Amino acid sequence: MTEINQTLKNVAVVGLGKIGLTLAAVFANNGFNVYGADINEEVVASVNQGKSHVKNEPGLEQLVENAHRHRTLTATSNTSEAVSQSEIVVVIVPVLIDEQNNVDYCFIDQAVEAIAKGIKKGTLVIFETTLPTGDTRNRFGKKIEDVSNLIAGEDFYLAYSPERVYSNRIIEDLKNYPKVVGGLNEASLKIASSFYQKALNCNLIEVSSLETAEFSKVAECVYRDVNIALANELAKFADQKGVNIPEVIAASNSQPFSNLHFPGVGVGGHCIPIYPYFFINRGLKNGLTQLAREVNDKMSDYAITKIENTIGSLHHKNVLILGLAFRENVKETTKSSTLLLIDHLKQKQANIFLNDPLFSDNEIAKYAVTPLSLNDKMISKIDVIILQAFHKQYESLDFKDFINCRIILDGRNSLNKELINQLGIRYKGIGN
Ligand SMILES: NC(=O)c1ccc[n+]([C@@H]2O[C@H](COP(=O)([O-])OP(=O)(O)OC[C@H]3O[C@@H](n4cnc5c(N)ncnc54)[C@H](O)[C@@H]3O)[C@@H](O)[C@H]2O)c1
Repeated sequence: MTEINQTLKNVAVVGLGKIGLTLAAVFANNGFNVYGADINEEVVASVNQGKSHVKNEPGLEQLVENAHRHRTLTATSNTSEAVSQSEIVVVIVPVLIDEQNNVDYCFIDQAVEAIAKGIKKGTLVIFETTLPTGDTRNRFGKKIEDVSNLIAGEDFYLAYSPERVYSNRIIEDLKNYPKVVGGLNEASLKIASSFYQKALNCNLIEVSSLETAEFSKVAECVYRDVNIALANELAKFADQKGVNIPEVIAASNSQPFSNLHFPGVGVGGHCIPIYPYFFINRGLKNGLTQLAREVNDKMSDYAITKIENTIGSLHHKNVLILGLAFRENVKETTKSSTLLLIDHLKQKQANIFLNDPLFSDNEIAKYAVTPLSLNDKMISKIDVIILQAFHKQYESLDFKDFINCRIILDGRNSLNKELINQLGIRYKGIGN
């Protein structure tokens, strides 16, 4: 095994997005020569200047600069060429879902085609992208075989290892979370495991098949989605009963078998609201997984109804949403609950204002709402505030200048209820 390892020096990382660039930079700082491949020429150019195009990821800019200085990280838009120079290929190009929640392979199919054209005998290909179960073997392994005329497991090795990190702390998570690894055969598994041991210096969980590794990542997301849905259901019932759900959660979770999650105005991001469909679309129908998606997607509607039940119609009311990002302190909008809030508020014919310190006015205006600075005089005319993402800039937000505001819907149960009530503004949380 060590013999094989000593020859494994060159790694192609296909997809230099938030995760791919971080992986590439970590590998390049841990003794590997990394060729990053991306179809975005701007990304390629910035990496080749030693600059990270991904911001707000602690430690990343330094790692990219360092790797560039030591010439261990270069980028190209020619994936086949990067692959042909490498003994290991790590694929981290997204699989998305379309408007109807069907799996959309357009990016990764293109990447795999290019990999298949560049692959040589003896290469290990590891997929890290979250995938429907079976895709590594049946869709991508097969594609590589068909295009390259090489045989998986004999001429090239194939593994799957899910990426489980959390934005804003990717480098830490890469070290701290065990890496789950599955291989097409024993040789694929062992080469992949020893690569990760060296490249990430992390603990490993070797599982018995590609499919087990693929399934485990989607199962994590389903677990979280279902548990958030449970918290949301309990929060709505607590509202009916006049009970405070954060207090309930603290009390219930003081016993080791209870791990109630936190309710909120919705679940966003490109993991939790998306990957459950990788099960639902492949046969897991009419169960908790599907129901959880529905419950969580209806929370924005629930929040707006709660406001209307308190102050009446929102027709022509000035409504300010705090937070475009799908969660606090992250500049990402994928499946943000704010998008659902905007849709509902448009139907109500409210005047929608949006503040997010992480986005420029131009970026916000793309969502057909009015960007609003918290220093703008207009804040005195706001009738309703909805907190969607509790960015750190909102921690010390003083609502005293919102002199016309009648209600604040705290979609994350994070604001100071007493201070808000003291200003004569109604406070409503989710189950709070
Ligand atoms: N971002 C997260 O928090 C997170 C967490 C866990 C797992 N993941 C997994 O990582 C994957 C990637 O996430 P990300 O945040 O890095 O995505 P991203 O959107 O930031 O980056 C994707 C990159 O892939 C590139 N790309 C698209 N098609 C390509 C092709 N044919 N060839 C080469 N490059 C191509 C894009 O130009 C882009 O730079 C996700 O789909 C998911 O499976 C992400």
